[in-house]
Amino acid sequence: MYILGINAYHGDAAAALIKDGRIVAAVEEERFNRVKHCAGFPAESVGYCLQAAGIEIEDVSHIGISRDPSAHLHKKILFAASRAAKQSRQWAVGSAQTAAVAIEEAGAREEGERGRGKGEGTNGGNGSGVEKRGPGIFRQVKDRLNNAGKVRDLKDDLAGALGTPKSSLRAQFHNIEHHRAHLASSFYVSPFERAALLSIDGFGDFISTMWAVGEENSIKVLDQVEYPHSTGIVYTATTQFIGFPHYGDEGKVMGLAPYGRPRYIEEFRDIIRTEERGQFRLNLDYFRHHAEGVDMTWDQGSPVIGRIFSDEFVQTFGPARLRGGALTEREHDIAASLQLRLEEVGFHVLNHLHQQTGLTDLGLSGGVAYNSVMNGKILLNTPFRRVYVQPAAGDSGTALGVCYEIHNGILKRERGEVMLGAYTGPEFSSDEIREELKSSGLVFETLSDEVVTKRAAQDIADGLVVGWFQGCMEFGPRALGNRSIVVDPRRANMKDILNDRIKKREPFRPFAPSILEERTADYFEQSHPAPTMLMVYQVREERRAEIPAVTHVDGSGRLQTVSREVNARYYQLISDFNELTGVPVVLNTSFNENEPIVCTPRHAIDCFLKTRMDVLYLGNHVVRRKSEK
Ligand SMILES: [Fe+2]
Repeated sequence: MYILGINAYHGDAAAALIKDGRIVAAVEEERFNRVKHCAGFPAESVGYCLQAAGIEIEDVSHIGISRDPSAHLHKKILFAASRAAKQSRQWAVGSAQTAAVAIEEAGAREEGERGRGKGEGTNGGNGSGVEKRGPGIFRQVKDRLNNAGKVRDLKDDLAGALGTPKSSLRAQFHNIEHHRAHLASSFYVSPFERAALLSIDGFGDFISTMWAVGEENSIKVLDQVEYPHSTGIVYTATTQFIGFPHYGDEGKVMGLAPYGRPRYIEEFRDIIRTEERGQFRLNLDYFRHHAEGVDMTWDQGSPVIGRIFSDEFVQTFGPARLRGGALTEREHDIAASLQLRLEEVGFHVLNHLHQQTGLTDLGLSGGVAYNSVMNGKILLNTPFRRVYVQPAAGDSGTALGVCYEIHNGILKRERGEVMLGAYTGPEFSSDEIREELKSSGLVFETLSDEVVTKRAAQDIADGLVVGWFQGCMEFGPRALGNRSIVVDPRRANMKDILNDRIKKREPFRPFAPSILEERTADYFEQSHPAPTMLMVYQVREERRAEIPAVTHVDGSGRLQTVSREVNARYYQLISDFNELTGVPVVLNTSFNENEPIVCTPRHAIDCFLKTRMDVLYLGNHVVRRKSEK
């Protein structure tokens, strides 16, 4: 039986397909249409999922979307009524229910993406954070009603995307509440039979944070934090204030934080306040989203989010940094304070969740779960002993969560899939790659399986910038050794070389290490596996000089632990590098140049040609840039 899950009309539109409980495919639309974090309907992703299974849409039994406009409706109505009463002069909204839908849609923002670490977004945002547009609440209500309408009319877009009559969609349709989809994505594919679960997010279906217990094939929700209170909103608002306006820029602020001191921690403790029973609340004086509304776009294209922070931020911290302006000690210290406060609040929720459940296994999801710095400290600050973070913790992962919420939660089928890696996207045969290389007119060599990793390891050890394109593309924001650029972590100048030749990232942002899993404890202060690069640990002090290109300014590294079981070829590459150098670590950055990560051999060749990468491995085929050698 096939189940199709969709995240649509939201950032990181995506689709996932499972068959009898096993993952067939999961992929983000941005990889196909090349628009970062694109929202809208994931038409190409749906098409790819069906193609990967070799089926037609008629063969799919259940189709779900990770939104439910009717969820939490009474809370939305209550909130809207209270706002309408307070602001009746500005909000002449006809009915509380209409406003409630608008608020639900305003809450649709899944900012998170913390730790995303990819390049710039592509457009929009509020620039300096001094947007002067009025709230335009009527326009926003209209826009959001339209958005909720699309969620309800999923069949139309799906039939349109597939060029098939609506009558051919025989599947049963489901609206899965947003956080249930997140929770499902972190539990049903985890190795845990029973676990505490936390979805920590911007907003979705009027909720920012939800925690639960997962047991076998059910998830029991324990509590939640409702609109307008959200850790994700605080992170995004502060990210905007610091002058990074694009969707997904929060990871930059996470990377900036280690340069600062948390001297504004008391201000952030006032901005977001912890309460009993794991709850927290915002000091709403600092925010606009709950009162004036914030402009957002969720059409096909990169999401654009208006200014969330209020003038209270300016009163407290001074003028917002202009985009592109100098990053001073103030911005460093604001970032450090924000990061520390996020961790305090995160551990506050998690410690309560442990108290409530008595469990020591944790499944983690939601956009804030991309904050790998926070994740890496969970074992140090809570009683949890094992953590599974859904590789696509943000909204794209809800497409997969939808599949499993239907398979396990609704249909009560048995569990069976454990998702240790994230290799669920397209792969290309050797012949397909060969054809692409030939049509590009590039000179290439084809190596045996045994030789290819050895040769690449030698190139890396020689200081070359190596494009490494293998097997199935990753799901989620991290390149995990199949769509990666790999270089020597021992060379301190590699960061500058990568930025100069390819990545063009802000110089303060760190690059990440991939390490042989069994050697983790030799190089890091913690050794809990991090196979999808969603944990930051401290590099052992005595090892920092050995791998300077992947050691951040505070001695940390956002590592990927690599096992043969999860990615045999990448494991072999690092093993071969270790044979040559005695260092079981490589620097791994995503295969892209300020664009979505490459998906096809064509994308990889284009990226190779337009950057100054030295050598490109496409499967067993190798292309060298002769002039650079
Ligand atoms: Fe979300």
